[in-house]
Amino acid sequence: MRIGTPLSSSATRVMLLGSGELGKEVVIALQRLGVEVIAVDRYANAPGMQVAHRSHVINMADAAALRALVEAERPHLIVPEIEAIATEELLRIEADGLAEVIPTARAANLTMNREGIRRLAAETLGLPTSPYRFADSLDELQAAIDEIGYPCLVKPVMSSSGKGQSTLRTGADVAAAWEYAASGSRVNQGRVIVEGFIDFDYEITLLTVRAQGKSGEVETHFCEPVGHIQVKGDYVESWQPQLMHAAALQKARDIARAVTDNLGGRGLYGVELFVKGEQVWFSEVSPRPHDTGLVTLMSQRFSEFELHARAILKLPVDTQMREPAASAVIYGDMDEAGIAFDGVAAALAVPRADVKLFGKPEAFMRRRMGVALAAGPDVGIARERAKHAANLVKPVKSQQDE
Ligand SMILES: Nc1ncnc2c1ncn2[C@@H]1O[C@H](COP(=O)(O)OP(=O)(O)OP(=O)(O)O)[C@@H](O)[C@H]1O
Ligand SMILES: [Mg+2]
Repeated sequence: MRIGTPLSSSATRVMLLGSGELGKEVVIALQRLGVEVIAVDRYANAPGMQVAHRSHVINMADAAALRALVEAERPHLIVPEIEAIATEELLRIEADGLAEVIPTARAANLTMNREGIRRLAAETLGLPTSPYRFADSLDELQAAIDEIGYPCLVKPVMSSSGKGQSTLRTGADVAAAWEYAASGSRVNQGRVIVEGFIDFDYEITLLTVRAQGKSGEVETHFCEPVGHIQVKGDYVESWQPQLMHAAALQKARDIARAVTDNLGGRGLYGVELFVKGEQVWFSEVSPRPHDTGLVTLMSQRFSEFELHARAILKLPVDTQMREPAASAVIYGDMDEAGIAFDGVAAALAVPRADVKLFGKPEAFMRRRMGVALAAGPDVGIARERAKHAANLVKPVKSQQDE
């Protein structure tokens, strides 16, 4: 794949479907390689749009709108950044040879629905997962929970970032969990997965890159494991490396390889795994950079975003970690458009710290507006620094006095 000159007839054009903070970093990485980037999202001035060559606001779940945009822009590569896309249309676009979908249209299609990826991992590939059942009604949910037992989790089959998800400890919680799942579901209202609760010691994201090697064959590369903490299904802190028992690390890599070999294509995947002692369970996988991997902006020679950009362009990758580092999320803490941030200078004065502000036009209480990063001699110190820096950044209403 030859890289041309942006905005000329030789341009290598990449269309991002979803232009949030992760997309923004992918756009920056592509820009640095001289790629022409078209950012797409459902709202104007999304973070990735602010650094792209041009942008479009469409409903990406609308197959006709998506097709029309791809036909108008004729990108060489389509890079999904979110799950809520008309992935059936991506399958047609790929089959018609209109554009190449990263990593593959099938990967985007299977992973947008918890049922597709769970059945692939557990039933086709025979990988260890939590016990699970699917249900389409409150009665079916009760029957499924009777088999799985308590504690368990109920999640809409189509949702992300913990939306519509509940942990059930007793039978008194079932009706509420059903209602909550229906309200948090993205598209297919009413289908849920019940998962047995895994009492893990820790959870990791194993960033796994499929990139073309010297021989022309796709090779698999692993980053050091990223450890993280989730609150209500949303990540609040991550670090690299997460130290692991050698046997557990080997199992994690075997699982990640099995899943990504099957999903195929080129690019970076985020494989989510639960670990207890030497036991490892597959949880889910993102066929794209992972939010917990923001830490790699500090810890690795090339961030997960740069690795993704290189891999999709058939360029070599290097997953080497440089030093331990951590990330801590900065939330909006208010529902307000056009907010400002106090304390950035103080945060940047924390040893080895850095701050990224995403530039989102509107803040919500639990919307991720930025991230603090920090390096350190070990993960413990890096985490303290990152959390300290994140706490120093204070979202304020823009009319508030400085
Ligand atoms: N079966 C389980 N047992 C124990 N904890 C679980 C289980 N399933 C999910 N969790 C916890 O909830 C978190 C979010 O779950 P999951 O990744 O399935 O949701 P999500 O909405 O896809 O989140 P995201 O989009 O942020 O990855 C997990 O990272 C884990 O901490
Ligand atoms: Mg997850």
